[in-house]
Amino acid sequence: NRLADTPHPLPEGTGVRDGAGVREGFGNEPDTDPALPANREWGRAVLRAAAAGLENGRLPGSELVQQAAVTEAGVLERVVSEARSAASGWAVRGAGGRAEILHAAGRMLASRRAELLEVMVAEAGKTLAEGDPEISEAIDFAHYYAESAHDLARIDDARFEPARLTVVAPPWNFPVAIPAGSTLAALAAGSSVIIKPAPQVRHCAAVMVQALWDAGVPREVLRFVDVPENEVGQALMSHPSVDRLVLTGAWETAALFRSWRSDLPILAETSGKNAIVITPSADVDLAVADLAKSAFGHAGQKCSAASLAILVGSVADSDRFERQLVDAVMTMKVGASTDPTTIVGPLIEPAQGKLLRALTTLDEGESWLIEPRQLDDEGRSWSPGVRRGVTEGSEFHTTEYFGPVLGIMRARSLDEAIALQNATSFGLTAGLHSLDVDEVDHWLEHVEAGNLYVNRGITGAIVRRQPFGGWKRSSVGGSTKAGGPSYVMGFGSWHPVAREP
Ligand code: SER
Repeated sequence: NRLADTPHPLPEGTGVRDGAGVREGFGNEPDTDPALPANREWGRAVLRAAAAGLENGRLPGSELVQQAAVTEAGVLERVVSEARSAASGWAVRGAGGRAEILHAAGRMLASRRAELLEVMVAEAGKTLAEGDPEISEAIDFAHYYAESAHDLARIDDARFEPARLTVVAPPWNFPVAIPAGSTLAALAAGSSVIIKPAPQVRHCAAVMVQALWDAGVPREVLRFVDVPENEVGQALMSHPSVDRLVLTGAWETAALFRSWRSDLPILAETSGKNAIVITPSADVDLAVADLAKSAFGHAGQKCSAASLAILVGSVADSDRFERQLVDAVMTMKVGASTDPTTIVGPLIEPAQGKLLRALTTLDEGESWLIEPRQLDDEGRSWSPGVRRGVTEGSEFHTTEYFGPVLGIMRARSLDEAIALQNATSFGLTAGLHSLDVDEVDHWLEHVEAGNLYVNRGITGAIVRRQPFGGWKRSSVGGSTKAGGPSYVMGFGSWHPVAREP
């Protein structure tokens, strides 16, 4: 642990679970509590280490990143064949054997919270507040999928045949939790895994993979392979020996991968265009806070982020909601992820294309409630933007931007709001702020999205409590809910066992 020489290598109240063996049941890992002075000191040490790493160009995981490059087709063939062969040795350990290693992986990730957070701050631009819960989520995945492995073994009258080889292609925006979750689920099922990191955040994936190896996941079962996005990359994503592909990214990418090999089962969580509806019965203070955090946390770079607020009836007619939103958003400090006071960190890459358009130009009838400003030369730092007057069917209503810009729409009734919320090709997350139970029931019945949140922000799904996955163009191959009871089953197939009396 690179921070072992700092006074607080582990934050208080989090960390390694007691006992060497498998723990009973599942419980969510707590985040680091910044109210404790020791934890604030710990956080500052993490930020100092991240800033030093950026300065000297040496991030945790650098060695592994260098070793991972595979640029030749012949080398890739060997890796694929070795990984697939290793699956039988992994599967015969049985659910209990695999679960034990997965629990150890959870404890190892917990013991490396500082190193994981350091590399996320430096490489992915995550603030402490955004990065810390992501590590808790990765730890949760390890323990939760370990329990799922036991569940597989408990089902009578059918035998579970694991996929032998799973390829994991994670995104850059959750550079630890998503690669960890996909990998741990496949491992729980009994599959070997080849993980190909997102190019922007290779070091984050490397530190996570190293923790899994050090916890006892065999290196031949979990391979870390960095292929370029050329014919070698395509060969991996469409290789005939691959049984499952887990992808988190744009819907177009999933469609492209499918066109390469249509018979390959893809478990994909793709794009979103997510709205929060606010009705006149809502607690406005709560709604404003949840909206601002859901829209601008990690600078809006989440598939789950709120990109639209739909104000209903008197909320739309009075200016109280908008005034409070302006106050809330204007106090969100924009800056470097290594600054402890930053709320809105940098974009992973300079704004370009449709995002740049959304930050700089308005459609007819729209105006800025808060005009976004570019704060650096490069175009990676933008203050949050809020536009009002977004109309049905406009570009802003239907396009995913993945950046710090929110649009406000108006509706005369809850039904009209739901219609606007449903009128996109995506269906990932959706929110409602209302204190009227009839409204809540009505909304729950009619809204089309995978994750529905009432009187809560719409990002940060919690393992087991909010299994995560979408409808429509927010998923491919049906909704597969990560962190839910059937996710691990997607990494294999069932064969009935008929026993004659
Ligand atoms: N699981 C994340 C969230 O809920 C998105 O991938 O925000």
